[in-house]
Amino acid sequence: MAYTATVDDQQVSCGEDQSMLDAFLRAGVWMPNSCNQGTCGTCKLRVLNGAVDHGDSPADTLTAEEREVGLALACQARLRSDAVVETLGGAAGGGITHPLRDLMATVLGNDDIARDTRRLRLALSEPLAFHAGQYVELTVPGTQLRRQYSLANTADEDEVLELHVRSVSGGAATERWIFDGLAVGDQIPVTGPLGDFFLPPEDSDDGGPMVLIGGGTGLAPLIGLARTALSRDPGRRVLLYHGVRGVDDLYDLDRMAELTTVHPAFTFIPVLSHEAPAQGTAHRAGLPTDLFVDDIDSARGWSGWLCGPPPMVEAGVKAFKRRRMAPRMIHREKFTPATD
Ligand code: FAD
Ligand code: FES
Repeated sequence: MAYTATVDDQQVSCGEDQSMLDAFLRAGVWMPNSCNQGTCGTCKLRVLNGAVDHGDSPADTLTAEEREVGLALACQARLRSDAVVETLGGAAGGGITHPLRDLMATVLGNDDIARDTRRLRLALSEPLAFHAGQYVELTVPGTQLRRQYSLANTADEDEVLELHVRSVSGGAATERWIFDGLAVGDQIPVTGPLGDFFLPPEDSDDGGPMVLIGGGTGLAPLIGLARTALSRDPGRRVLLYHGVRGVDDLYDLDRMAELTTVHPAFTFIPVLSHEAPAQGTAHRAGLPTDLFVDDIDSARGWSGWLCGPPPMVEAGVKAFKRRRMAPRMIHREKFTPATD
């Protein structure tokens, strides 16, 4: 059984067990989205007429009052009749999407790159169109558990995906699968692309200075974003802060050094929160969001990109606002734990 959702004069067929977001993105129709697991609220939309099943929508993301006035989370809600819906405003890069797809991938590499951190390289059965900064979902074998992992690639690297994965104690996807058993040559399904953490298209990119702050494996999408911005404008001012606990958590230092050599206006700042930096290194002590406030007097005209643990992302939003960055220029990707 399928129902039809109409949004902005576009009609999309939604399966009975399919979220509206999934149906829209597969049809190539843009809808703001970020976590795809009911925790961020980015995909909230208004159902003007029609019936929906809110599924597992958490009450703190979609309140009872919001349900009563016809709001729904597109990533959780299933249609129970034909419906007319409207999105609640745009998101970064609104209007541009690459269709959501399911592909098979072969594991090319699953290598330790830092403490409790792996680089996963996945060769796709066919190229996947995406924007740098977006993420893909992996399903833990033998379960229905889906986990999100950001792409470190630029959009032209569309055949071999690069993911950075941090192990979580007892984690179904990390400790019990990716770090224990997932081997080179294994075939795994990949779904993507998802998320709105990407640069505006080249013709509407203002080319202004950028600051990117990543915590742990939150570095992954920032690598793709920084390389994309610098390929558009090799002289663009780009600051990239990587916040980690200790020196053993740092990775891709050679890659960063190479970018700095090619692009003198690119600066990479590794920041240690729980260790004193060794003498003679460029490492700094503290939190990257605090250091940005110390380093930059005014971020008017800048764009800001935050990715990693939710508390770091929230601290970054405050830091950027303190330095007068326009709210619409602040982009965030929170690595929120799954709710299942
Ligand atoms: P689970 O089985 O889900 O969790 C096991 C236990 O640990 C649970 O109790 C859970 O609540 C807790 N837990 C889970 N995560 C954390 C945490 N971070 N801190 C403390 N406790 C936790 N992760 C990456 O490593 N790299 C990425 O590029 C990445 N991209 C993401 C992009 C998005 C949009 C989102 C929403 C998340 C992203 N994540 C990323 C997180 C990733 O999707 C998983 O949540 C993570 O790998 C843990 O999954 P798991 O199945 O191993 O742990
Ligand atoms: Fe739906 Fe986050 S709540 S995308």
